[in-house]
Amino acid sequence: MTSRFFKPRRLAHANIFVGDYQRASDYYRDVFGFEEVYNQPDNKASFISNGNTYHDFALVDINSRYAKPGQQPGLNHVAFEVESEAALVEGYRAAVAAGVVYRSTEDHDVAHSLYQKDPDGNEVEIYADVVQDWRSARKGSFSKKKPKWVPGETNVPIAQPLFPVDPEIRVVDAALVHARRVSHVALIAQDFEAMFDFYTDIVGLSVVAGGRDRAFALLAGTHSMGDLALYRSDVESHMRMHHIGVEVSSEADLDAALEGIERSGGKLIAAHDHAARRVVLVHDPDGLPIQLYVNRDWTVDTIRSIDAKLAPFLI
Ligand SMILES: [Fe+2]
Repeated sequence: MTSRFFKPRRLAHANIFVGDYQRASDYYRDVFGFEEVYNQPDNKASFISNGNTYHDFALVDINSRYAKPGQQPGLNHVAFEVESEAALVEGYRAAVAAGVVYRSTEDHDVAHSLYQKDPDGNEVEIYADVVQDWRSARKGSFSKKKPKWVPGETNVPIAQPLFPVDPEIRVVDAALVHARRVSHVALIAQDFEAMFDFYTDIVGLSVVAGGRDRAFALLAGTHSMGDLALYRSDVESHMRMHHIGVEVSSEADLDAALEGIERSGGKLIAAHDHAARRVVLVHDPDGLPIQLYVNRDWTVDTIRSIDAKLAPFLI
């Protein structure tokens, strides 16, 4: 099936619920090496980035107004970046005309976004950057009313691509691990075929490896070799998210994680060494699974050689 509406470039951020957003922000800086770009005390949220986008992670407190009663730490949403606002609006109009339902459309002033739910109930954001220099728009403590944004009506859609091109990657030297970016999210699909159809047809990702009739599917945007991995529900996991993939600077970071993650308050879950990728899977202090990795030969043939049992850990 080919994409009808959008051609996302890549997964741009993961928005996660955490037990305490200030404590999590410190942890993600000191242990994983993501800088806080800005925070929103009124929303109880911290936005951290290594420069890839205006946030690689949003860390939203389980006591934030965005949380549901009894909210536990876990995935809030995944966000995919498209080329331009014009492409976003064109896709939105075609999708709505075809009967696709969006929960909301939002003006984040640096980006315009569409939100909807996937067949399993996970929230998905598709967005376009609408300013080039997000660093001067977002810093420190930030609070802003969100004006209404009606795609294609509130403003003339910007045709110029404004996503970050060759961004300066800032690495926190003193951190235990020197993360470079959030690259992918791996989900345990309750309805695998429906999830596959949604992410390929409605979101517009392409298949890198696996498929609709396989044990897993690795899907990607136009500028990535893997943004979203879907696994069948027989894969063991304590939450519907198997992991969030974080690419680190070098294998020395993986050695540092093996040696130091438990001392930091995190937990070491698994370590795997494969021709395609070397991985150290850890839990943060909230139990959120983070796959720290360095790619080796991350090509379709080498990915296909990964044993089915190890696939959820490596992909
Ligand atoms: Fe988001």
